[in-house]
Amino acid sequence: MSRQQWSSQTVFILAAVGSAVGLGNVWRFPYLAGRYGGGAFLIPYLLAFVLLATPMLILELAIGQRMQRGPIQSLRRMHPAFGGVGLVAVTSAFLVVAYYAVVMAWCLLYLVRSLGVPWADDPEGYFFGQVLQISDSIGQLGGFNWPILIALAVIWLSIYFCIWQGPKSVGKVVLYTVPIPVVVLGVLFVRSLFLPGFFDGWRVYLTPVWSAMLDPAVWTAAAAQAFLTLSVAFAIMLTYASYKQPDEDIVKSSWLTAIADLAISLFAGFVVFAVLGYMAWSTGVTVQDVAASGPGLAFVVFPKALSLMPLAGLFSALFFFMLLTLGIDSAFSLIEPTVAAVLDIQPGRKSTHIAGWACLAAFLVGTLYTTKAGLYFLDIVDHFVTTYNAILVALGMALLGGWVFGAEALRRYVNDISDWQIGRWWNGAIKWVAPVVLVILLATQLSTDLRTPYEGYPAWALAIGWGTVILPVGAGIALSFGPKAKFDDESTDSELTD
Ligand code: PFF
Repeated sequence: MSRQQWSSQTVFILAAVGSAVGLGNVWRFPYLAGRYGGGAFLIPYLLAFVLLATPMLILELAIGQRMQRGPIQSLRRMHPAFGGVGLVAVTSAFLVVAYYAVVMAWCLLYLVRSLGVPWADDPEGYFFGQVLQISDSIGQLGGFNWPILIALAVIWLSIYFCIWQGPKSVGKVVLYTVPIPVVVLGVLFVRSLFLPGFFDGWRVYLTPVWSAMLDPAVWTAAAAQAFLTLSVAFAIMLTYASYKQPDEDIVKSSWLTAIADLAISLFAGFVVFAVLGYMAWSTGVTVQDVAASGPGLAFVVFPKALSLMPLAGLFSALFFFMLLTLGIDSAFSLIEPTVAAVLDIQPGRKSTHIAGWACLAAFLVGTLYTTKAGLYFLDIVDHFVTTYNAILVALGMALLGGWVFGAEALRRYVNDISDWQIGRWWNGAIKWVAPVVLVILLATQLSTDLRTPYEGYPAWALAIGWGTVILPVGAGIALSFGPKAKFDDESTDSELTD
């Protein structure tokens, strides 16, 4: 059966930008900048973005486009021992989307309730008490939170109808889901320029607290964010690239995706910090204190700030609508590696069915996060999967591309088909910078987590977190080094390494 293809190179770039630009840009990036020294965070972030994440994006696109298969098969075709890396990537993307969709479900609930701005008096109590109905501890599941569960079902139905025909339907949806949130962000930007205190917010965003750069945690956070925001390491971009023609440009698409993603993150930072400046002005708190609020930013601090504005309902609705449209094209890109991997081993099956089963399975896993203890589980799985699994997969891909297959061979392939060229610096980035930095990140993170239990959760709960790392990695090792007949492919590797 022939593989589906994007209808054009522009549609591919839109889909890649849609995947990259997600909740991470508007919710995660600004709170990290606020927490880790404002302007001082931007420096490690930019360095990691250009020297690490973008070269890895080029690598993923090269592998997917060259091999024309889903993640597991593509990596196996480059070297049989690396199929396991693909398996870890696929399961990790699946684990992420199971909770990413739950965050979108919260956005949906806020959107439908936004006109009345019911959180105005007590946004924190509203989020934790009314929306999440959070239990006292992770040990108390407390049953399902039905509104979230129903919202989650709606989100998954929407995701399914975006991806059910693969690149064909995705290509149509991204024509809307990429520009719409950018336009809404533009509207919010203009609005924010008329808020008193906006400039104080910008000052905090852009003024570096130099001492912050001495903290290794800043560098780890910056590097991890650069990876996540570009959707590299979970084979998402690899899967998308496998639906391109083998001789289409790679370098220009990579840079355009990276530049669009970076520009939207930085732009979102201006909007968010302007609103935080306004919040600080109207409540008499410093911008630093408001900005350092962490993950509660999108659901506690921002709703509060929006509620203080004239036309609060309208702007709240716009904000949550923007988060939803930002999230949906990232969410469906996160489920695509699973669909592609299953189709590789069962090519006779209908892709619409596989997509349906994948969405249903992710929905079922996600129901855990719709219990009253859901936020605790979400926090743990997010922490472990997006650090360890992402680092391990990126490391595996860098070693495979840089050393086993050969960075120079890949660079020649990429340059032969691309409008823009990549220099030899790329070989160094893949062979040396990426592996060295990734090993340092891994060691730093491991030593922190082994010394202090993450967020003080009980050992059994953290065991689940470790399980989300160890089980996929164990399965990956078994796939790479165990019996592999099931995954054997008709093409020989020599045919691909010419
Ligand atoms: N790049 C998207 C974002 O930053 O929201 C989607 C995403 C990819 C999120 C991979 C998380 C992740 F681990």
